[in-house]
Amino acid sequence: MNYLVANWKSHKNINEVKSFFDSFRNYTHDEKLPIQVIICPPFPFLYQTHQLIEDNNLPFSVGTQDLSPFPLGAYTGAIASAMIAEWTKYTILGHSERRRYFHETSQEIANKVTQSLEHQLTPILCVDEPYAQEQIELISKDNLKKCLIAYEPLEAIGSGQPDTPVHAQAVARQIIDWAQVDIPILYGGSVTPDNIQEYLTMESISGALVGGASL
Ligand code: PGA
Repeated sequence: MNYLVANWKSHKNINEVKSFFDSFRNYTHDEKLPIQVIICPPFPFLYQTHQLIEDNNLPFSVGTQDLSPFPLGAYTGAIASAMIAEWTKYTILGHSERRRYFHETSQEIANKVTQSLEHQLTPILCVDEPYAQEQIELISKDNLKKCLIAYEPLEAIGSGQPDTPVHAQAVARQIIDWAQVDIPILYGGSVTPDNIQEYLTMESISGALVGGASL
C-alpha cells in the first residue's frame, strides 16, 4: 500500500476547500491502484472536509496536522483526539514546522502519538535525520507498529530542492533499523507530480507527504 498525504498547512478558506472538492466531481478511482489518499486540512475545515469527501463519494481519508498531547480536560485551546476521532483517521505529528515555530520536543510528540492511538488515529510521525533515532526510541514498539513515518529533510521542505530518491531510500532503511519493526516510510519535501514517481519506485518508500503541491 502506498500513502499520499496532502498537508495543507495553514492554507485555504472554506470556499477554497469547497472548490478543491468540486474539481473532483468527475473523478473515478482506479480500484486496482493500491494508494490511500489522506487529506489533512486546517482544523476549522476538518468536519467540512470529511463531509465533502462523503458527499462526493471519494475514496479519501481525513487527517489532522497536529493533536493535543493531552486527553480531554482543562487544556485551553487544545484539540484532543477524542473530539475528532469520528471523522478523522490519521494525524500528522511532529512536523518540523511544529518543532521550529511551536517549540515541540520529541517527548511532547511521543505523548501525542500515545494520545492519537487512544482513539485509533494513525500517527504520521515526521522525522529528520538529526533526531529520528531519539524520536523513535521514545515510542514503544507496539505503538510504532501502528504508525506511518515520514522522512522529511528540513532543507527539502518548501524549497524546491528535494532529497535524492537514493538518499531518501537509505534513510528509510535506517529508520526501519532503528524502529526494529517494519513500518511504512513516506518521503516528504518538495514532492511534485513530476518527481513523485521516482520516490514511489524506491523499495523502502511507501508514499509521499506533500505540502505545496497538494494545494
Ligand atoms: P512541501 O512540504 O511539499 O511544500 O515541501 C512538505 C511538508 O512540509 O510536509
